[in-house]
Amino acid sequence: MVAHKKIMVTAVGKMWEVRIADIIDFVKNGDRVAFGGFTPAGSPKVVGLAIAEKAKMEHAAGRPFKVHVLSGASTGDAVDGVLARAKAVLSRTPYQTNSDMRDAVNSGEVLYWDMNLSHFARQVREEIFGEIDLAVVEAADVSESGEIVLTTAVGMAPTFCRHAKKVIIELNEFHSKKIRGLHDIYEIDAAPNTKPIPLLRVSDRIGTETMSVDPRKIVGIVRTNMADQARPFTDADSETDKIGENVAKFLFDEMRSGRIPHQFLPIQSGVGNIANSVLKAMSESLAIPTYSMYSEVLQDSVIDAIKSGRISFASGSALTVTENCLAEIYENYDFFKKHLILRPEEISNHPEIALRLGLIAMNTALEADICGNVNSTHAFGTKLINGIGGSADFARNSQISIFLCKSTAKSGKISAIVPVCSHIDHSEHSVKVLITEVGIADLRGKDPRQRARTIIDNCVHPDYKDLLEKYLKIANRGHQPFSMADAFKMHETFDVTGDMRMTEWSTGRQ
Ligand code: COA
Repeated sequence: MVAHKKIMVTAVGKMWEVRIADIIDFVKNGDRVAFGGFTPAGSPKVVGLAIAEKAKMEHAAGRPFKVHVLSGASTGDAVDGVLARAKAVLSRTPYQTNSDMRDAVNSGEVLYWDMNLSHFARQVREEIFGEIDLAVVEAADVSESGEIVLTTAVGMAPTFCRHAKKVIIELNEFHSKKIRGLHDIYEIDAAPNTKPIPLLRVSDRIGTETMSVDPRKIVGIVRTNMADQARPFTDADSETDKIGENVAKFLFDEMRSGRIPHQFLPIQSGVGNIANSVLKAMSESLAIPTYSMYSEVLQDSVIDAIKSGRISFASGSALTVTENCLAEIYENYDFFKKHLILRPEEISNHPEIALRLGLIAMNTALEADICGNVNSTHAFGTKLINGIGGSADFARNSQISIFLCKSTAKSGKISAIVPVCSHIDHSEHSVKVLITEVGIADLRGKDPRQRARTIIDNCVHPDYKDLLEKYLKIANRGHQPFSMADAFKMHETFDVTGDMRMTEWSTGRQ
């Protein structure tokens, strides 16, 4: 154990009995607190609660208390949820998925910087967000010298600990110490001393098994024994299954054309139901050879595919799996350690590596427009859903960048394909292929008018096809189909009637 520990609290199974005062003395109003983990995987389980309790006590005493919250990506409810509900957050970056945090951001109560995850470590090193007062990381083991074995994620933990003034470790005894060796910790030197990252294959190990923290910075160790709070996914449905089939078909055709080599290319896959259905379809399609993953988040579907021999190796930043799935990994660790590795997000999402490995990137769109721009983050241009996460890191730099979505949302009242996206995260220059349950639009080598034709023919739901055909006629005046008067008419109609299925376009500037 670390010699310099100043607190040692036990939080096994009864979080509310944590001696909050011991922890919260370290956190002051206006501090920057950085949480390790990536998704709920490896996200601290109790220090966030302690900070939230302090906020409530301070507010009750009429004193202001809020902190800036940084993390690897999304977190568990024990960070974002409790802190948002306690009104303890001044600002949040770089990504979140919690409904209470989302509401606080959308109401303007919390400032939120939505960031490409591959850029985040660099900006922390540059102190764009100011100095980090406290880093909180979850560990499976820690030594006297400050050598830390992380748990189910790496995310930003090495960078946060290097740049924080103080560190608290949540030593989570839920995790087997066997997990040592799953991680590959590699940090990038700041420019102009940045060196090429020596990663040539998905399975290459380029760093160390553990991360190091100056033990003098460690102000406390909190013992926990808790599973990650992974979000349950809703079941796959016929539309997500069809999207999966369409992806498998597209990739098989790419292989036949020779653009994807016979040994295949590594896959990056976003999170959620669509991603799960796609991996399932790829695993079931015997036309697709055994493949590898170079991705951000590894879900249960990846573990299933490793077991069945369809995925040969998976590299990510987080193992966001269910409790049963993790138990299975620990039970068969000798097998899984040959097939899995977790890296810092600066490496898992690194643009140069995405380009070098020739990734096939597959991410989900909220909406896409007929020219191929994609909105992943803001419903109706204004309401934040989650954030851009790693999607642009991969989309911009991969060999093939595919965006996936159902053709409609809200029981058909919203068309996911619109004349112009109400917010743009991925421009037409990054989006190579768009796939819905209706079909596949290959946008490569196509002029904007051809892209519009391809998307309307292949991806639009039948309820919206005539409408978008008519829009194309109105808008088809220059190089890029666009009608100023009608660009957002479908969105506007939904605002007024609750349904995008309108009958007429404006005659304004036709
Ligand atoms: N317009 C307005 N709202 C829409 C919409 C549209 N075109 N499409 C979906 N929505 C709404 C849904 O109805 C749902 O609302 P609800 O919460 O009130 O039910 C909400 O947006 C989320 O949609 P859902 O279909 O449940 O999303 P999902 O789980 O498939 O995730 C993204 C889709 C885009 C939100 C998600 O993939 C994401 O956050 N992407 C960005 C980050 C990323 O890609 N990370 C991976 C990189 S490795």
